[in-house]
Amino acid sequence: MRKLQTITLALLMLLASSAISAQDAKMNAFIDQLMKKMTLEEKLGQLNLPSSNDFVTGAAASTDIAKKIIAGKVGGLFNIKSYAKIKEVQKLAVEQSRLKIPLMFGMDVIHGYETVFPIPLGLSCSWDMALIERSARIAANEASADGINWTFSPMVDISRDPRWGRVSEGNGEDPFLGSQIAKAMVKGYQGTDLSKNNTLLSCVKHYALYGASEAGRDYNTTDMSRVRMYNEYLPPYKAAVDAGVGSVMASFNEIDGVPATANKWLLTDLLKKQWGFKGLVVSDYTGVSEMIAHGIGDYQTVSAKALMAGLDMDMVSEGLLNTTAQSLKEGKVNMERINAACRKILEAKYKLGLFEDPYRYLDENRAKTEVFTAANRKEARSTAAQSFVLLKNQNKVLPLKKNGTLALIGPLADNKENMGGTWSVAANLSKATSLLTGLKEVVGDQVKIMYARGSNLDADAAFEERAGMFGKSLKRDNRPEEVILNEALEVAKQADVIVAALGESAEMTGESSSRTNLDIPAVQKKLLNALLKTGKPVVLVLFTGRPLTLTWEDQRVPAILNVWFGGSEAPYAIADVLFGDVNPSGKLSTTFPQNVGQIPLFYNHKNTGRPLSGPWFQKFQSNYLDVTNEPLYPFGYGLSYSNFQYSELKLSAASLKGNQTLTATVTVTNNSNVEGKEVVQLYIRDLVGSVTRPVKELKGFQKISLKAGESMDVSFALTPEDLKFYNYDLKYDWEPGEFQIMIGTNSRDVKTAKVNWTK
Ligand code: BGC
Repeated sequence: MRKLQTITLALLMLLASSAISAQDAKMNAFIDQLMKKMTLEEKLGQLNLPSSNDFVTGAAASTDIAKKIIAGKVGGLFNIKSYAKIKEVQKLAVEQSRLKIPLMFGMDVIHGYETVFPIPLGLSCSWDMALIERSARIAANEASADGINWTFSPMVDISRDPRWGRVSEGNGEDPFLGSQIAKAMVKGYQGTDLSKNNTLLSCVKHYALYGASEAGRDYNTTDMSRVRMYNEYLPPYKAAVDAGVGSVMASFNEIDGVPATANKWLLTDLLKKQWGFKGLVVSDYTGVSEMIAHGIGDYQTVSAKALMAGLDMDMVSEGLLNTTAQSLKEGKVNMERINAACRKILEAKYKLGLFEDPYRYLDENRAKTEVFTAANRKEARSTAAQSFVLLKNQNKVLPLKKNGTLALIGPLADNKENMGGTWSVAANLSKATSLLTGLKEVVGDQVKIMYARGSNLDADAAFEERAGMFGKSLKRDNRPEEVILNEALEVAKQADVIVAALGESAEMTGESSSRTNLDIPAVQKKLLNALLKTGKPVVLVLFTGRPLTLTWEDQRVPAILNVWFGGSEAPYAIADVLFGDVNPSGKLSTTFPQNVGQIPLFYNHKNTGRPLSGPWFQKFQSNYLDVTNEPLYPFGYGLSYSNFQYSELKLSAASLKGNQTLTATVTVTNNSNVEGKEVVQLYIRDLVGSVTRPVKELKGFQKISLKAGESMDVSFALTPEDLKFYNYDLKYDWEPGEFQIMIGTNSRDVKTAKVNWTK
């Protein structure tokens, strides 16, 4: 019987694989035919991805880009929004160009389209893969309804440096969590059939190591050992590739002295050969021409190097379009690479179904009915609430009661444009809601809500302007600082509770928004201090796109709810959590340091030869004179209105051999009278290795829901697969020996047991 099943299975697999190759054969035959007709110039045209910034509807045929499209010199376009505009441009390609090859339309659909979900760093704190996948699915549905078929997402750059503004766009510091999220996002965008009109081609970025830019300064150099790269930074990109991501974006930074965009080891040897990536590789914005400034050659040289390294498509620089024919004549590139790159672009279009119907993603009815819908907004609201992290809740200040008077104070309290956060390029800011409006809509007839601004975002007007780009100004109040503050104190006096909406503006993180000071701006801290002095309970609703240094706040403010930037529905979600309709369950995906000097600070660090054990300070141990090694809030940390208790950890065996499975179990009890969700986290430590191993590594997590008083056994199964790492020779394997197994509510507070695992 078993034999019969095996044979049937093998037969089915054979059939499936031959079905795939039949599909591929059909695609290849189609592209072969098409490429036979293409001139060199037309092939290079496919490699060209300009931004459509200058495209104006109605003037289509006369713009520079339009002329290029008609001449077959454009493969795709990005930064163009709306069904109507995209249709007009697609018409140029399929009605006026010689070979009628349709265009791809890309966009940074990063965390939602018009319905905006939390910034990725926030979303990652949900630790809920189904929820994350759904958010990508909804984003894909809305974007594709409006004509887009390619998204430059997910961004999976591991980062341990909150000075870097782009931490907001990623999933934090952990390769395991980051890999799970990478997979979920790719699945959400691409679905199971890319040719469906509601899917997007996904693009994992920024390959690779962009999050390790020196000093947290954007676009800066990166440099690290291969062992660290393979074990800690590369896994999320690889996870996206394994999940079938259709495209990869090369990063701006250099790796081993060669910019990623022209790094053959990275783009060809590792990505295409070792990992077997079959899709297209696109540069980042002007990534090709920037290599002139990097210092590896002139325009023609850097373009030739990029192409020969494995880059298939050139975003904005037009170097591949303009210089490759000359490089071909000079023998600096070859026809084989040009053909291979062109084929990748055509394959993507084929898979998207664009050759069958170039207007597949251009259905006017969908554009009108499937964007910013009530159902999508409802999902975004509950998703936002799952992303919030309760950092402190002394004396159960939260949840608030639905009565009395509430003073909502702060520069982020009545500004709708900032709620969505950075990289919400498709958002319609006129449809956004402010926190003040959201609170009033949710509880306004039960709670009297008063408002005052209290302070500007920052005392420095020029800084505030830099932090308010893309229509997200906080509309500065030019009255004297004391006047604005006193007005707020008058309002605060009349309230039972004060909610202070403070922190960063949306554009204080994101691209080119690095900071060296990670405090809440001083003028807001002054306001917070004055509010605390009123003696009324104060809840800090913290807006931020990165871990901030909150030591001062943690010592003084009774309740801190970190709401990141929760998207278009954030104000409602904040009300839901503040008033207890939703119990917060987010857990940090990145460490919050005590101060900037500790950076980089991350939970999965190495032990060193002189670890600090016992109390701080110890001379000649690895520590600081002025501050402990501890973070303020560790990775995995987040409170709830419930109170979860963990039993001791039980292991199914104390010693194991070979491919056996270890089961690790804890009993988690909700010791409170409110139902809540908890993310139970499993860490391991490989105590002895041929290369040194981190003191903790996340290897599993489960998000569970427990009713008041309820207990649950939570078990994790571990096999040698979970013990594997890249050794000195970059071989991926596990090594026998002793392992610590740890389960807990965050990376610091864990129950521990030991096993011995032999080969
Ligand atoms: C960013 C990318 C983005 C691209 C296109 C670049 O500046 O680094 O993340 O996808 O622009 O907008």
